Amino acid sequence: MKVAIICPMEEEIGYYKEHLGLSAGEIVGSTEVWTTSYQGHEIVVARCGIGKVNAAIATTLVAQTSPDLIINTGSAGALAPDRQIGDIVIGEATMYHDADARAFGYELGQVPTMPARYKAPENLIQDFLNAYHETDLTATRGLILTGDQFIADTNKVNDLYQTFRGAQCAEMEGAAVAQVANQFGIDCIVIRAISDTAQQDANVVFDEFVVTAGQNAAKVTLNYLKHL
Ligand code: ADE
Repeated sequence: MKVAIICPMEEEIGYYKEHLGLSAGEIVGSTEVWTTSYQGHEIVVARCGIGKVNAAIATTLVAQTSPDLIINTGSAGALAPDRQIGDIVIGEATMYHDADARAFGYELGQVPTMPARYKAPENLIQDFLNAYHETDLTATRGLILTGDQFIADTNKVNDLYQTFRGAQCAEMEGAAVAQVANQFGIDCIVIRAISDTAQQDANVVFDEFVVTAGQNAAKVTLNYLKHL
């Protein structure tokens, strides 16, 4: 099987670099790409950079290599009150929180003509639930929100949690990766770990825990690949 892993930041990709033996990758625009193998599978790793457009560029690039599956991992700010720093969120679905074409009858978060939510295949969700059970981490499955906003505001957290009922966390790339994967007909799942609680001090907390969050999400992902 061929699996592409897309990760936004250098801080979030370290676990893969260490465990997959990645050194200098190929730079294409602002994306860095590595090709390797792991447990008998072909693996493409891409560091996409931050935000929806960078995520879409990198996903388009890796889609050209015809992977069977695209996995997006990294950090996220918690929206659900019971999500703790370090916890894993297995993305049942992703959607944008900053898209709005309701004037034309679309759902809040829905880009016109595109699905409102990008759902991960149920078998993938189950496989990732099995993969996390073998770690010492806590995980939950749920909705992940994406937008070109770093959330650092209690009122915004409450608003997003209520508006997008029960959304577990917010990040800045997942739905864009999923949208591109959807357009290329490639299965996709987003796996995030909580780096901060998206409150007023989120920038400071993020800096402290982004590496841990990146590692946790990568740990579950490599565990998943081991059983593939
Ligand atoms: N990624 C990690 N923390 C985040 C936050 N608070 N908002 C958006 N993306 C994030």
